[in-house]
Amino acid sequence: MAGNPLDLRIWLDKVRDLGELTEVNGADWNLELGAISELNVKKAVPPALLFDDITGHAKGFRVLTCSTSSPARLSTILRLEVERSQLKLVQALRGKPNQWQSGAPAYDPVFADGGPVFENTLAGDAVDVYRFPCPLWHEKDGGRYLGTGCMVVTKDFDSDWINVGCYRNMTHDRNHVGLNMIPAKHGAIQFSKYRKAGKPFPVAIVLGCDPLGYWISGIEIPFGISEYNYMGSIMKEPVAVVRGPVTGLPFPAASEIVLEGWVHPGEERLEGPFGEFHGYYSSESEPTPVVTVERIHYRNDPIVLGSPPAKPPHDFSYAKAVVRSAMLVDALQAGGVPDVVAAWAHEIGGARMFNVASIKQRYSGHARQAGHVLSQCGVGYYLSRYAIVVDDDIDPSNLQEVMWAVATRTDPELDIDIIKRGTGSKADPMSVAYRQKGFCSKAVIDACRPFDHLEDFPPVAEASRELQEKTRAKWRHIL
Ligand SMILES: Cc1cc2nc3c(=O)[nH]c(=O)nc-3n(C[C@H](O)[C@H](O)[C@H](O)COP(=O)(O)O)c2cc1C
Repeated sequence: MAGNPLDLRIWLDKVRDLGELTEVNGADWNLELGAISELNVKKAVPPALLFDDITGHAKGFRVLTCSTSSPARLSTILRLEVERSQLKLVQALRGKPNQWQSGAPAYDPVFADGGPVFENTLAGDAVDVYRFPCPLWHEKDGGRYLGTGCMVVTKDFDSDWINVGCYRNMTHDRNHVGLNMIPAKHGAIQFSKYRKAGKPFPVAIVLGCDPLGYWISGIEIPFGISEYNYMGSIMKEPVAVVRGPVTGLPFPAASEIVLEGWVHPGEERLEGPFGEFHGYYSSESEPTPVVTVERIHYRNDPIVLGSPPAKPPHDFSYAKAVVRSAMLVDALQAGGVPDVVAAWAHEIGGARMFNVASIKQRYSGHARQAGHVLSQCGVGYYLSRYAIVVDDDIDPSNLQEVMWAVATRTDPELDIDIIKRGTGSKADPMSVAYRQKGFCSKAVIDACRPFDHLEDFPPVAEASRELQEKTRAKWRHIL
């Protein structure tokens, strides 16, 4: 099997054919790339943006943003039929994460003899990360971030498990970048073993390839499964990788840019703050592990894949909402919750902090069970704040309907369960007010009609579906 080298340019051709690529010339790395991308994602269907002629950089050294922010592009990334409707895309995704996960063991990556990533190499004194457009994305960022839509490849200390995680990289100087891994993340768990043994931690940072790469690296794939296997399972062909000559780590053969290096024992520098996915600069600059870059491999005319977060909607909030919602439905079902109709991880909560599921209530306690699993399942527990369960007449992706159910079908004393000392994050904007960092409480809101009063609960005062359809048909010209 030859394998798929995750070539970004093949995917970009598809995006051009979809009519969803805008080329932007002459923008400045200093705040303009960030601000243009931020304004772009506020459109109803934002195009992907390919920046060239970036101030201070050679023509051809490009940056791509907004790669995942439309249903059509997201469906091509996930190798589904092109879908231009969000609802159909979520429908098409139902059950897929489970299938991808169970298929993953059959798709070990395959090693290619070489690849376009080796077209150019910088070593020794020539190593200089500033050759590549490295944006200051937001006004209050602590530095310029080269790695946002990136893949950080690492290997376990005492097994062959290769992990690929999306962890941001601030540039410190020409051959040092930060590695911001939150403690529970798999890369951080691997790193802690090297640190304990006093050994240097090998790292390869992929700064651009087919967005499937960074996208899967940014999703919670279960512990011990390599993201490469998961990507292979989605594509139905293995990822074609090459071995890094410095670290021995595998990266996609068509990667645009790869930084290879080591975190040496005890090496840390101040990193951040950075505008984050929930819309805040939530943490101060903090000592963070630093990668000493020994070698840079890159393609001719390389493209940095940028994915800058900000106050939602932002670069990747839409895609997170869609994919995490499908994963939440699967997790609820795997957790033994029957009759889950739909779930939605809202963009306003960065697709983590405000999650809603709708169920068809079958038995007493069903809604509570769904709410607690929604709050605590593997894909949902991290920084979850509100888990809300609604009846099947409510669309969980529609905030207006959800909050109507909360306002009218809950009694706060009876229907809000508080889970204390759940998993929080240093990235939590509320952590300023917490004495115990790393924890946060979680509310499970049962906004379903009380199960023991389904029969006598007041009927909804809204025109029936039949009356609505009849009225719309007759009064189309004014409605
Ligand atoms: C664009 C983007 C940037 C991210 N930045 C970080 C980051 O800087 N640090 C972090 O710990 N997680 C970050 N995440 C979330 C992780 O990538 C995600 O939790 C992933 O599951 C981590 O991989 P792991 O499960 O192998 O640890 C980011 C996700 C995306 C999509």
